This record gives sequence, structure tokens and C-alpha cells, in this order.
Amino acid sequence: MLQNEVIFVNNFAILGKISKEKITPLIFSYRGKSILFLDYETRLRFSVYRACYTAVPAEGCLMSQKVKSIIAEAKAQGRKKLLEHESMALLEAYGIPLAPYFFIKDESEINLAAEKVGFPAVIKIVSPDIVHKSDVGGVIIGINDLSSMKEAISKIRENVARNQPGAQVTGFLVQKMLPKGGIEVIVGGIRDPVFDATVMFGLGGIFVEIFKDVSFRIAPITEAEALDMINEIRSRKLLEGYRGDTPKDKKAIANIIVKAAQLIYENQEIKEMDINPVIAYQNGAYAVDARFILNL
Ligand SMILES: Nc1ncnc2c1ncn2[C@@H]1O[C@H](COP(=O)(O)OP(=O)(O)O)[C@@H](O)[C@H]1O
Ligand SMILES: [Mg+2]
Repeated sequence: MLQNEVIFVNNFAILGKISKEKITPLIFSYRGKSILFLDYETRLRFSVYRACYTAVPAEGCLMSQKVKSIIAEAKAQGRKKLLEHESMALLEAYGIPLAPYFFIKDESEINLAAEKVGFPAVIKIVSPDIVHKSDVGGVIIGINDLSSMKEAISKIRENVARNQPGAQVTGFLVQKMLPKGGIEVIVGGIRDPVFDATVMFGLGGIFVEIFKDVSFRIAPITEAEALDMINEIRSRKLLEGYRGDTPKDKKAIANIIVKAAQLIYENQEIKEMDINPVIAYQNGAYAVDARFILNL
């Protein structure tokens, strides 16, 4: 099998020479406006991907079309915040493992949701106006049957009406409840005015909020860099089997950080990304909540 060869160029004219000398396909990556590629695509038969220098599989591009259409719809509706199921779909498109979920608009669809997701389940409010769902009583966990699911929906409606009157209720996210024994970590990102897309990692709860124990990188990143990010934080010991707890799957977390970095890097409209929490286990790590704020 042929090895991939990476060639750095600082001049567009060299591309023509390379395309003649090297066996195709060639994948060319450039941090800039993809419009510059178009000209080269037609002249040199390059494929155009606005993507990082690691691999650019074609199906990845198809999935990124889904991301583009979700973002375009939110923008068309003037929404800065993606809805919960839209955020989950973005993660899914980038291959980030997550808890199975199903969006329902109201109680009438609980049978279908239970069939898709199973029990135990979690129900969450989906509203363009609510940012922190549990602060307004918008998350109920540990639902074990259909009647509790129905009750949970009424309870969430009541809580939201009391705690954030006037908030629009788009529907509810029914999610598989993940088992105990995991550690909650956060994978975030902001589009910095100087560095552009950046990615952040930290442990959930007080570690990020109070101790600001986080690590940052400029996106995109490799798996090795993501592992460095995990090993850089002071609270990493909690992931390594602290006081008899099982060690958590750093490779699975690193994989999520790499993909999240790619997601914010490739989609300029994303201003902020907060995957919080990702629940990390001895084997595997899964996102259960994500918030995306767009530049409108
Ligand atoms: N699918 C799930 N399985 C297990 N625990 C969950 C699940 N979804 C949420 N939780 C727990 O509930 C908390 C709040 O839910 P989350 O969706 O993060 O809402 P928000 O951050 O908007 O309040 C999470 O931090 C996590 O502890
Ligand atoms: Mg959350």
C-alpha cells in the first residue's frame, strides 16, 4: 500500500508542478477562503475540501453538508443557539459518540421515543430561549416507563412556565440515560478573534467553573495533541483511577476532542461550542449535551 506523503507548499504555483509529478489523488489543504481553490480545482482537477490536513474522506464532506443545512436553517430563523437535537446531529455528523436520542414535539410521540431510545431515559426541554436546562427544571433523569415519561414532560412544562415564563417550548429531547460510573468532562471551543477556531478541555463541575483547570489548543489538532490536552490539566488524576476508581478511556476522550476541533474549525458560523458533559467510562466516552452559539 502507498504511504501518504505530506508536502508543505508556500506558493500556489507549485501545486501545478506537484500535480504533474505525483500520483493522484492529491488532497490539498489550505487555511483560507475556499474560493481560491475553485480556480485550482477546474484548472488542476483538484477536489475542494475546506478541511484539515489530516484525512478528508468524501463521506465526511457529505456529513458536513448536513451540518451546513442545520446551521443555515437556524440562521434563516434568526436563532443564535442551536436546538438540542440540532446540536446532537452536529456531533453525530462528525462521528462523536453520543447517547441515543430522539426529538419529540409533545406527549403524543412518547411511544415512538421510547421505542427508539429505550429505558432508562432522560427528558430535556428543547427551547431556543433556554440555555441552562437544569437551572429551570428542564432535565429529568431516571425515567423507567411510559407513564413516568408522560409525567416528566408535564413536570418540565410546569417548571419552565414557573422559572422562565414566556420561554418558547419547541419540544423535548428524549435520551438514553447513561449508566453510573463515568466521569463528566467538558469539551468546548471558541472562535477567537486572533487564533480563530480553538478547542478546550476540562473536567466537569467545579474543576472548570471554580478552578479554571482547562487546556486549550488552536484547531485542528491531532490525537497526540488531544492526549496532551488531557494530560496537561491538574485534575487529570481523577481520570487515572483515583482512590480505587477505574481509570477512564483517555483515547476515547481524545478522539472526541479531535473531532470537536474539526467541527468548529470547518464551520465558520460556530462562535462557541460547549459539549458538556461528555461522560467518560473505562471503555468509551459519550456526549450527552451540547450547546452551539452561532455568529449571525
Ligand atoms: N443521557 C444522560 N445520561 C446520564 N446523565 C445525564 C444524561 N443527560 C444529562 N445527564 C445529567 O444531567 C445533567 C444536566 O443535563 P444537561 O443535558 O447537561 O443540561 P444543562 O447543561 O442544559 O443543564 C448533566 O450534567 C448530567 O449529569
Ligand atoms: Mg450540560
